[in-house]
Amino acid sequence: MESSEIVAGRYAGRSVLITGGANGLGFASAERLGREGAALGIMDLDEAAIERSVARLREQGIEAHGYLADVSDEAQHRGAVADFQAATGRVDAIVMMAAIFPEVPFDELSLDTWRQVNAVNLDGAFIGAQAVLPIMREQGFGRIVTIASETFLIGFGPLASYIASKAGVIGLTRVLAREGGAHGITANCILPGLIGSEQNLARPNIDDTFDMIVPTQCIPRRGEPGDIAEAVAYLASPAASFITGQSIAVGGGDRFL
Ligand SMILES: NC(=O)c1ccc[n+]([C@@H]2O[C@H](COP(=O)([O-])OP(=O)(O)OC[C@H]3O[C@@H](n4cnc5c(N)ncnc54)[C@H](O)[C@@H]3O)[C@@H](O)[C@H]2O)c1
Repeated sequence: MESSEIVAGRYAGRSVLITGGANGLGFASAERLGREGAALGIMDLDEAAIERSVARLREQGIEAHGYLADVSDEAQHRGAVADFQAATGRVDAIVMMAAIFPEVPFDELSLDTWRQVNAVNLDGAFIGAQAVLPIMREQGFGRIVTIASETFLIGFGPLASYIASKAGVIGLTRVLAREGGAHGITANCILPGLIGSEQNLARPNIDDTFDMIVPTQCIPRRGEPGDIAEAVAYLASPAASFITGQSIAVGGGDRFL
């Protein structure tokens, strides 16, 4: 794609920070928004993946900045937000993809693991939101896109800490909608269904899992990272100005909210 095509997109002049943006659904969203003209900040813990993803974006003529930061570390997270604002002059949107999802039978789940998962998935979202809200209020514009999971709609013992953290993210999103609404800021949460992301495709028995899930969907095909990127691209855009505080399941219609 020519860079002249890229800057003509609906995200021209917009800066979007994506936590967990170096891999999976975060990177798919980065590519999608970048191709529509966004300048991107990729915040992640995976240093090699940051380098790889930033290089892939730049090869396509996309402005991309990498930040090595742990979302659960307040100083690192706030530092990355400040550095991104300094680099691009704005933070129009933050997309909170960073998460961990250890599967442990409920009876064996340690309090340490519970706390670690909630620190990354929920505290990370809180820290990011508190860092960007003043910037977005000053701009009179902002889009906060949080990510939960359709597992929240199901309940599944081995993902107890993950599901609880994602429930917290949904609650936080509603608070952010109230905090931001009068300042041109929206906050919405995407609940992906089972998606064929790299980390999922590497799991043992993933084909069996898809064979079980796909027939339960209204749209009987595998979910792809691009399906989530499409929802992000709408919710993070200026066009999505009258939708806020919502939880949107993107899973081919296997569940209804
Ligand atoms: N893939 C799916 O089917 C699916 C389904 C439901 C929900 N989700 C949600 O979508 C999001 C993306 O999932 P994915 O499948 O792309 O996962 P992924 O593991 O491929 O990507 C997550 C990224 O977050 C980064 N990360 C992890 N801990 C971090 C931390 N402390 N600080 C900064 N970065 C950190 C990882 O390095 C990785 O790059 C997650 O929030 C996940 O819960 C995914």
